[in-house]
Amino acid sequence: MSKTFPDGFLWGGALAANQVEGAWLEGGKGISTSDMQPNGIFGGVVERTPGDRSIKDVAIDFYHRYPEDIALFSEMGFTCLRVSIAWTRIFPQGDELEPNEAGLAWYDALFDELARHNIQPMVTLSHYEMPWGLVENYGGWGNRKLITFFERYARTVFTRYRDKVKLWLTFNEINMSLHAPLTGVGLQEDCTTEDIYQAIHHQLVASGMAVKACHEIIPDAKIGNMLLGGLMYPLSCKPADVFATLQENRTWLFFGDVQCRGEYPGYMRRYFRDNGIVLQTEPADDEALSHTVDFISFSYYMTGCVTADPELVEKLRGNILDMVPNPHLESSEWGWQIDPLGLRTLLNVLWDRYQKPLFIVENGLGAQDKPDADGHIHDDYRISYINDHLVQAREAIDDGVELMGYTAWGPIDLISASKAEVNKRYGFIYVDLQQDGSGTLERRRKESFYWYQGVIASHGASL
Ligand code: BG6
Repeated sequence: MSKTFPDGFLWGGALAANQVEGAWLEGGKGISTSDMQPNGIFGGVVERTPGDRSIKDVAIDFYHRYPEDIALFSEMGFTCLRVSIAWTRIFPQGDELEPNEAGLAWYDALFDELARHNIQPMVTLSHYEMPWGLVENYGGWGNRKLITFFERYARTVFTRYRDKVKLWLTFNEINMSLHAPLTGVGLQEDCTTEDIYQAIHHQLVASGMAVKACHEIIPDAKIGNMLLGGLMYPLSCKPADVFATLQENRTWLFFGDVQCRGEYPGYMRRYFRDNGIVLQTEPADDEALSHTVDFISFSYYMTGCVTADPELVEKLRGNILDMVPNPHLESSEWGWQIDPLGLRTLLNVLWDRYQKPLFIVENGLGAQDKPDADGHIHDDYRISYINDHLVQAREAIDDGVELMGYTAWGPIDLISASKAEVNKRYGFIYVDLQQDGSGTLERRRKESFYWYQGVIASHGASL
């Protein structure tokens, strides 16, 4: 008999404001770090001038088309949609004392539309964007004042949406700041490792304060962290490779350790000592960090390998995160290695380490979909990717892991984060949009749309 997922398991998809909404200057919205990176996280900062155009400015126009999109999500059977709030719609510059009512009202309308379809929102407070004003005028998260600004923003949205949103996440892929400091913590490219960890410290304190505020304002809500689940394997069984892998995994598990256990782990204090990194902290920081998350959410796309041999590292590393590839795995068109069993391993690793409920809030395949002569999209590669990952998630549940839900990344085509590409499509729903901005923005169901609908309807038995 085929296994099913537990009752109450949440099924859906995940979006980020800056990759779907567009309407970059509507409703009193301020300029964000994402607006200043029109070519994506790895495309650098570009000075924006009046009248210039970026693909992200309109994106897939979710800001105006969300009712149609939510109806399609509902048709697939979604019970959960992960979205993010653009901080700049609520506090355009970041340091205002009063929020922007037009921005608050737009998210009210979005959450009301979801409620009409019985889709539960899961809201990320900060998904790869922050007010540009906080970068220019304060130096980003390097400045302690950001903690206060973020807390004000978090308390504002918790209070406003207390009856509508019961699932929250603090910072998207909080560990990515080590690779993309501007996107993660609003620091410029020439910052030092010490600068980054100082900014991360402020962000971790702010995350703890947000957890505390959420528990006070919405006692029946749950709030989680969000990690880029960057599971690494040793390239060989040489003890040096195994130890280097332990250390590499700690670079991201560190964030989970602080957010789940409420204090800095010993290995991190040693890393700071060994590298001459001295963090400026205040006594109250410990109290803020002690507010631990209710659950752990993470993205999972791929795994990578680690070797202690510097020559091999030089020779082998390749993709965007500079990981050493695994010779036993196939890759996507973008060089992301496909490893469904790695998801089961990761779920077990996180469960064994923290014993807190888990939520897979991103997983999916970026691919170039080509409509056939009749306009149909036969994305069997996406079906097989998600199918194989869900099978492993189901196995992990059978292993004893408590898994709350699964939201596939980009249930509708959107603008990719790393390079602002349109042809890197993740959706079950095709959007008629090309890189030069042309296209009608019409939505079309792909083959995977009907497949995912069947998975949800059967509680996973059809996998
Ligand atoms: C995650 C991000 O890193 O990966 C998303 O949280 C992003 O915002 C996703 O879109 C996929 O990456 P990309 O670069 O293919 O869009």
